[in-house]
Amino acid sequence: MRIDILTLFPDMLQAVLAESMLGRAQKMGKLQLGLHNIRDFSTNKHKKVDDAPYGGTAGMVMSVQPLADCIKHLQAQHVYDEIIYLTPDGQTLSQGLCNALSLKGNLMLICGHYKGIDQRIRDKYITLEISIGDYVLTGGELAAAVLTDAVVRLIPGVLGDETSALSDSFQDDLLAPPVYTRPAEFEGMQVPEILRSGDDKKIKTWLEEKALEKTRRLRPDLLE
Ligand code: 6GU
Repeated sequence: MRIDILTLFPDMLQAVLAESMLGRAQKMGKLQLGLHNIRDFSTNKHKKVDDAPYGGTAGMVMSVQPLADCIKHLQAQHVYDEIIYLTPDGQTLSQGLCNALSLKGNLMLICGHYKGIDQRIRDKYITLEISIGDYVLTGGELAAAVLTDAVVRLIPGVLGDETSALSDSFQDDLLAPPVYTRPAEFEGMQVPEILRSGDDKKIKTWLEEKALEKTRRLRPDLLE
């Protein structure tokens, strides 16, 4: 999978995406990641990338020219399955959407700042608008990092244990059951006996029950 991220703050993403599972995915050749500084595409002599909004409302808007040129530069090299704008007014990211995106070949992610990007970019180029929740971030970078992490870990072979993504919370609309590791007793607290019984069938049933119980208690909306 190829993911190109257009941003005014590539350093914000560089560090996050180089570490852990995302770094591993790149080293394994499962992910080609491109970070592109929108400012590099500005034809303005001061490399300006924003301007006051028409209509005289407060704040600044990201200009059409640098964004359009950056998008066109990338489109000349790759065919994109989706061009995604990260914005609080987009559709809320879900595990289902992550699953769907993990099957794509090339994605372009656009991070906005200030009061957002000129509507004409949205009208002409954007195929999907995604929010990561009902709160406002300073810009789309952290949202792009969240989306990238959630999608890339679903690419087959990226996670060490291939089955573990399937047993995540939300993957089957259930929260994940509790997990334990050694020691079997810690400060008087025991690991449930059944997990140490070696009876795989009973363990599976117990885990399913716990997942259901936890979901009913914490997220009953998922069961509706
Ligand atoms: Cl995608 N962008 C910004 N700026 N704020 C957000 C968001 C995105 N998702 C939730 N809040």
